[in-house]
Amino acid sequence: MTILLTGAAGYIGSHTAIALAEAGYDVAIVDDFSNSSPEAVRRCEELTGKKMPLYEADVSDKEALRKIFAEVKPAAVMHFAGFKAVGESVAKPLMYYRNNLDTTLSLLEVMAEFGVGPFIFSSSATVYGAKAKVPYTEESETGGCTNPYGWTKFMIEQIASGAAKADSNMSVVLLRYFNPVGAHPSGRIGENPSGIPNNLMPYITQVAVGRLPHLNVFGNDYDTPDGTGVRDYIHVVDLAEGHVAALKYALGHKGTEVFNLGTGHGVSVLELVHAFERASGVKIPYEITPRRPGDLASVYADCSKAERVLGWKAARTVDEMCADSWRWQKNNPQGY
Ligand code: UFG
Repeated sequence: MTILLTGAAGYIGSHTAIALAEAGYDVAIVDDFSNSSPEAVRRCEELTGKKMPLYEADVSDKEALRKIFAEVKPAAVMHFAGFKAVGESVAKPLMYYRNNLDTTLSLLEVMAEFGVGPFIFSSSATVYGAKAKVPYTEESETGGCTNPYGWTKFMIEQIASGAAKADSNMSVVLLRYFNPVGAHPSGRIGENPSGIPNNLMPYITQVAVGRLPHLNVFGNDYDTPDGTGVRDYIHVVDLAEGHVAALKYALGHKGTEVFNLGTGHGVSVLELVHAFERASGVKIPYEITPRRPGDLASVYADCSKAERVLGWKAARTVDEMCADSWRWQKNNPQGY
């Protein structure tokens, strides 16, 4: 059974490609490499010993998608492709709406043409906006996003669930990721941001490897135990395994279902810095700077629904997240 993955040369998609291959599925990939490298897919093949046919195409290009669907005959689609930088989305909102919505619409239309029902989407905790109270459950209020990137995730959730309501063949699973970190334990694949990282863990690893001089800690006056922001960091391999569980669910159900994928535990910026120092043996110099606009004090998930319905639960510790992120960065100081 072949699963088509969009954007799987990227961070989460590449780890999921490996988890799917290990679970016995065949994987085909479509990516335009606008923010990723084909080398990631080559390494996924090397790690699993399985071929992963790779199509270079823009997911909004329906003609290209039709050719791929005709050749691959996917049983299900996982949609990872998308622009994902919060700050950039504020500066270039139209580019974000155009890309993230167009790709999804084209994909859903071609899926309908080919009668492919199961659709797993990379959504985000960002859809809860600033209104919900932690821990977020899937019933917590969504909307009120603070940036266009978040709104694209919110809108795609509406688009996909609306499509599933109208088409009884469809099975949509919306996965709301919390903060994915870590890397494959081999150290061969990992997160490879272009330019200066926006997110905490790749920033820390680039300081550790000497590419950046120090970490800026965005605020230490939040209402949290040590004053720094609290997030629900989840090991990317746990997240990848969550996709395999979601796929099995989607293959046996119709309609739309939403799941939080996190650990359920909040970790502060300084706790993560210190865990990383212990795991790597490298000191991370940092400076406290003003809060980053749009950041919330504390974001973590209630993941009981995924455990109950999917039989999935994150298993890896913060120490493993740090050790695996570090192994990847140390072995690949300049990325792929
Ligand atoms: N932080 C720093 N310094 C940095 C980077 C981050 O102190 O250089 C802090 C932030 O203030 C926050 C925490 O580290 O407290 C995590 O920040 P990230 O940027 O790594 O992650 P966010 O929680 O801000 O963003 C994540 C996803 C987004 C998503 C958002 C909201 O990366 O895709 O959650 O759900 F939109």
